Amino acid sequence: MDLQAIVDDIVRELEPRLGEGKVADYIPELAKVDPKQFGIAITTVDGDVFTAGDAATPFSIQSVSKVFMLTLALGKAGEAIWKRVGREPSGTAFNSIVQLEHEHGIPRNPFINAGAIVICDLVLAGYKPKEAIGEFLRFVRYLADDETISIDGAVAKSETNTGYRNYALANFMRSFGNLHHDVDHVLGVYFHQCALSMTCAQLSRAGLFLAAKGADPISGYSVVSPKRARRINALMLTCGHYDGSGDFAFHVGLPGKSGVGGGILAIAPGKASIAVWSPGLNKVGNSALGSVALEMLASRTGWSVF
Ligand code: DON
Repeated sequence: MDLQAIVDDIVRELEPRLGEGKVADYIPELAKVDPKQFGIAITTVDGDVFTAGDAATPFSIQSVSKVFMLTLALGKAGEAIWKRVGREPSGTAFNSIVQLEHEHGIPRNPFINAGAIVICDLVLAGYKPKEAIGEFLRFVRYLADDETISIDGAVAKSETNTGYRNYALANFMRSFGNLHHDVDHVLGVYFHQCALSMTCAQLSRAGLFLAAKGADPISGYSVVSPKRARRINALMLTCGHYDGSGDFAFHVGLPGKSGVGGGILAIAPGKASIAVWSPGLNKVGNSALGSVALEMLASRTGWSVF
């Protein structure tokens, strides 16, 4: 299979559609991004890399970061995290508050905003916010084997100034006792985590351990156990695209995690880690062209898990 030809074809075929969807503007800094961009990168478990389009342009990975923070939290607190966050798809928007009231402040899963905020609270245990952010950044740099990866301070500040919905979610959960730290501290970690800036090439490299039973196939080091990698993939498949998760499974058939910056990380277990990016979003807040590209890739490679 000629993966380079496949990614080149995808970029060429999507070229006339560049700019489709709507760039997230509720975070003012993200509204400035040129919508006419598209990148794709595949890192295979054999260590081969295939890129096309704007695969070397850094973008705000936003909610894709939730996969890495969840991995870190599982390493620190283990299965105890499931007392404070569920494992079911929400069927609601990524920033919805409705279920929290009758579900006692326990978010449905670690990928909706409320769940990711609880995960930050867990990672914060015993640390100052700056230390937790530093640990997170070091972890992602380690996974991607790239020390140049950084957090975009302007994006973090932009969200700190306008993230009213996340403040509401955090305060609401704190009232139920499901946040143990100061709301500003927890959100400080969360906003910086979301503001991580990465290229498609770096993101596909960072996700590779999930395609290889939890061990980085290039360095040989174990990141998580095979069982934990399987479970993170299961959560990505069922919850990674919020109320668009069923549709993504239907069309693409791979565990995936999207972000409002327009990035998607998709995992083909045993085969490869794939990152796509295009800033225009569909109605449920997932990259419009990114989703189309992954559908094309899955059908041309036969990598769907089904
Ligand atoms: O909390 C937020 O709203 C953003 N920092 C992240 C949301 C996000 O990426 C949802 N993904 N599609």
